[in-house]
Amino acid sequence: MSHALTNSRVLVIGGSSGIGLATAKAAAQAGASVTIASRSQDKLDAAVAAVGGNTRAAVLDTRDDAAVERFFTGEAPWDHIVVSAAQTPSGPVRTLGLSDAKAAMESKFWGAYRVAKAAKISEGGSLTFVSGFLSVRPSATSVLQGAINAALEALARGLALELAPVRVNAVSPGLIATPLWSGLSEAKREAMFAGAAQRLPARRVGQPEDIANAILFLASTSFATGSTVRVDGGGAIA
Ligand SMILES: NC(=O)c1ccc[n+]([C@@H]2O[C@H](COP(=O)([O-])OP(=O)(O)OC[C@H]3O[C@@H](n4cnc5c(N)ncnc54)[C@H](OP(=O)(O)O)[C@@H]3O)[C@@H](O)[C@H]2O)c1
Repeated sequence: MSHALTNSRVLVIGGSSGIGLATAKAAAQAGASVTIASRSQDKLDAAVAAVGGNTRAAVLDTRDDAAVERFFTGEAPWDHIVVSAAQTPSGPVRTLGLSDAKAAMESKFWGAYRVAKAAKISEGGSLTFVSGFLSVRPSATSVLQGAINAALEALARGLALELAPVRVNAVSPGLIATPLWSGLSEAKREAMFAGAAQRLPARRVGQPEDIANAILFLASTSFATGSTVRVDGGGAIA
């Protein structure tokens, strides 16, 4: 696997935290030249230090049409692009405000769409989205999140045809212990993780490295395209 990524140019959007950060670390370890992008310079600075090597950082907000266009215009083609960037207000359809609901779609779905529209990717290279298992296993309290994830997975399948021979895939995580959950109190978060560990066939909560592993598998496997790889501890069947 490392051979396929050695000296490749890898861009991880959302690479300053959680799943994206673990992916950037794993790609750098596999010998790739890694660029991480996200909105916050502070988070990027800390992440560059954590990834090490010759990692570069770029401030980029995937909600900004012009900024995404500009970013790719100024860059050489990429071998592999991973989109793990999103911030998604979530809740039941009847109680989540419509502006929050639209903001969630704007961030996670349209953010990935903008990248797909503007990105230059070399032949045989890849684009990988991070969706989520709620696409196939809905939750009554996160209905919209499931719909966004399903849209993203369908986008990946369609783009695998439109952008061929560039390969396009999605990785669909279950519950992963990342800073995404830092808005919860520690007690609530720990209770949620412990509950999941008990309920899941894998008997533990997911770690960002579990998802990074699947992302690198798709990026480095030249026969993988149009796939959604679910890595959820068995969450979809539990
Ligand atoms: N953790 C889970 O349990 C879980 C489960 C299923 C699916 N997922 C999905 O996995 C993806 C990554 O989640 P995570 O847990 O790694 O979350 P995280 O730790 O909060 O990381 C999100 C990353 O996205 C960046 N970001 C957010 N909005 C952005 C924007 N508009 N433009 C550019 N960068 C942006 C953030 O950095 P800045 O703040 O600097 O922009 C950060 O680097 C998300 O799509 C999430 O929905 C997560």
